[in-house]
Amino acid sequence: MARHLLGIEDLSPEQIVGYLDAAERWFEFNRSGDRKASVLRGKTIINLFYEASTRTRTSFEAAGKRLSADVINVSSSGSSVTKGETLRDTARNLQAMRPDVIVLRHQVSGAPHYLARHLHCSIVNAGDGLHEHPTQGLLDAFTIRRMKGKIAGLTVAVIGDVQHSRVARSDAHLLRKLGAHVRFCAPWTLMPKGAEALGVEVVTNLDAALEGADVVIMLRIQRERLVDAMLPSTREYSRTFGLSQRTLARAKKDAIVMHPGPMNRGVEIDDAVADGIQSAVLDQVEAGVAVRMAVLESVAAG
Ligand code: CP
Repeated sequence: MARHLLGIEDLSPEQIVGYLDAAERWFEFNRSGDRKASVLRGKTIINLFYEASTRTRTSFEAAGKRLSADVINVSSSGSSVTKGETLRDTARNLQAMRPDVIVLRHQVSGAPHYLARHLHCSIVNAGDGLHEHPTQGLLDAFTIRRMKGKIAGLTVAVIGDVQHSRVARSDAHLLRKLGAHVRFCAPWTLMPKGAEALGVEVVTNLDAALEGADVVIMLRIQRERLVDAMLPSTREYSRTFGLSQRTLARAKKDAIVMHPGPMNRGVEIDDAVADGIQSAVLDQVEAGVAVRMAVLESVAAG
C-alpha cells in the first residue's frame, strides 16, 4: 500500500484496479442503511483547501467521517494564509497537531509532492494546479467501469478546456493504463502543446471527437484561468464545442455523458444533455465518496 496518493501517472494498473475494487465495496456499503465503519477510528484527517471546491471537499469529509476518522477542514480564505503564511509553514504547523493524513488542494502544480517530501504524514492530492486530480480520475474510471462493465477497448472523448484541466490529465493517464482509447478535443488555443505524448488522439473538431464514442467527458471552461486570446466568445465556443442532443447523436447510442463539475450550463453542455438519460454526472458524485473512502483507508494503512 502506498503512503501517499499524489497522481495517477506513477500508479500501476494493478494499483488502480486495487483502488477501484476497494471503492466497489464502499459503494455498496454507502447504499446500505448503516453508513458508519470503524476502520479509521483514532485517525485524524485534515482537508487543507487553497481553492474553492464543493464535490471534492465535501466527499473527502463524508468519506473520512463514514470511516470514523476525526476530520478537520481548513480553507485558505478563513486561515492565516490570508495574513501571508506560506504553504510550508501552514503545513508544518498542522503537522504539529499530529494528523495522519493531509488532503491538499492547491493552485500550484506539485504542491502535494512538496508536502510529501517535507512532512511525515500521508498526503492526498485533491487537485494541484494544472497537473493532476487523481481521485477525480479514479471516480471517473469507477463510474465508467460500473456503467459500461469494462474500461479496456472503450473510446473515451474528453472535450473542452483541456489546457487548464488537471482532470483531463489524470483521466488520460488512468484510462490509457486500463486499455481505453482516449481522444482529446479542444480548440487549438485550449489544447496543451504536446498532448499526444500522453498517448491520446488529438482532434479539434467536435463531430470527429464524438464519432463512435462510448463515453463523453465534458470539461468546464475555466474562465478564471483564461486570457482573452484563448476564447473569442463563450457563444462562439458553445456553437462549435458545446454538447447538445443533436451533437451527442454522433456518439454511440448507449454512450454515457460525464462532467467533473461545476458545469457551465449553456456553454460546454446543454441542460437537456446534463439532465438527460445518458447523463452520469450525479453517478460520478456518488462514486466520489466511495473512491475517497478507498483512498483514505489505503493511505492511512500505508
Ligand atoms: N470535480 C471537482 O473537483 O469539483 P469541485 O471543484 O467542486 O471539488
